[in-house]
Amino acid sequence: MASKEEKIDLILRPFRYDNDRLNDIMGRLHKEMEKGLKKETNPEATVKMLATYVRAVPDGTESGDFLALDLGGSNFRVLHVHIEKGAKDVRLQSDSYAIPESIMTGSGEQLFDYIADCMGKFLEKIEMKDKKMALGFTFSFPCKQQGLDCASLIKWTKGFSAAGVEGEDVVRLLRDAIKRRGDFDTDVVAVVNDTVGTMMACGLADHDCLIGLIVGTGSNACYMEKLDNVEIWEGDRGEPNQVVVNMEWGAFGEDGALDDLRTAYDREIDEHSINKGQQIYEKMISGMYMGELVRLVLLEMTKQMLVFGGRTSPDLETPGTFLTKYVSEIEECTYLREPIGDMGPTMKILHSLGLKHATETDCGTVREVCRAVSTRAAHLVSAGISAIVNKMGRERVAVGVDGSVYKYHPHFKELMTQTIDKLTHSDVKLMLSEDGSGKGAALVTAVACRLAGNS
Ligand code: GLC
Repeated sequence: MASKEEKIDLILRPFRYDNDRLNDIMGRLHKEMEKGLKKETNPEATVKMLATYVRAVPDGTESGDFLALDLGGSNFRVLHVHIEKGAKDVRLQSDSYAIPESIMTGSGEQLFDYIADCMGKFLEKIEMKDKKMALGFTFSFPCKQQGLDCASLIKWTKGFSAAGVEGEDVVRLLRDAIKRRGDFDTDVVAVVNDTVGTMMACGLADHDCLIGLIVGTGSNACYMEKLDNVEIWEGDRGEPNQVVVNMEWGAFGEDGALDDLRTAYDREIDEHSINKGQQIYEKMISGMYMGELVRLVLLEMTKQMLVFGGRTSPDLETPGTFLTKYVSEIEECTYLREPIGDMGPTMKILHSLGLKHATETDCGTVREVCRAVSTRAAHLVSAGISAIVNKMGRERVAVGVDGSVYKYHPHFKELMTQTIDKLTHSDVKLMLSEDGSGKGAALVTAVACRLAGNS
């Protein structure tokens, strides 16, 4: 008979990756990247390697006042960004608006009217309704771009499903919604993915920042690629001989390439998601799914009588109750011992989920589950970044990173730094990008205005 520890270990073992496995994942992703970049194989590639029209990073001469919009998670942000020549950072003011689920999953017109409505409120508040500013739109979903200001949505991800937007140019939908109101005007100059915005925002402080990464609600990366390697590029091939590629790596695995690594819990998450069969790599990594993965593992452990004396609670049995932020909070106290006498954070969370019968030993097991799930996420992201770094072949490169999991998880950055160090020979620096995606959209807009000579 296996001991309790052995049974727990058996459940968690598939989450644990050694170097060989990580190298293997890197190889598989590298293959997909090549497939995505080539004209002939791109249609079958899961990782679409979308060429953006961003080809230059800020050179410090940009300046002016810009508006930026940031749509991609459960909050929508409007920003006013002031850029000064030569500055290492920008000044900004912003407001955040929650997007009700009814808007995320309603009609496209409702969604864009809501966006325009929030913009109107913001411009009114900062008293800039009469000033026509250039605008950068961070739209964090896979888009096929036909120009810097033209992007048709390929498919929704991350819980969005607003009808009538897939296949449409989101810049046109935004312009139409602004026109429908008629009480302010803007000049939409650029639409960018959040990974691109993040990379650009960090590029201001470090010119070697040529990779952008998001580990938040979703996960994705972009990087600066040589045009010679981008067969799918349809724009002009003049200087600069490079373009930022939005990988959309979340879709990796949609063809079964990761099937041998997926656990029963990964499959269950996918089964119950609104985009079944899609975004397989993302579902193993990002914040939208991390807490739910932990919940499913805990349910299985309860069933096997390994935790909570075999008794669940109605909350533990309800999807979505184990929030991803709990994973960070619980792992925080692995090192800062739980306070004596008082209830520690893990116990408090378990109590809030109706598990009043949890013991100290259960708390330890819950922490172990959280660590296994978040460590696998950090390992998968590191394999992804290392595949990019090795493909670029530079001696030094910086990665601009944003997203709630990376920002708030106590060990994610450290784990990534260690793992990337083992998987590459380059000097890789991870840079946290505060407000990167919105700021970056303004910077892309500023660069475009500079190049057009009208900043
Ligand atoms: C999803 C989106 C992608 C975005 C990522 C992070 O994967 O498809 O465009 O960059 O989430 O927000």
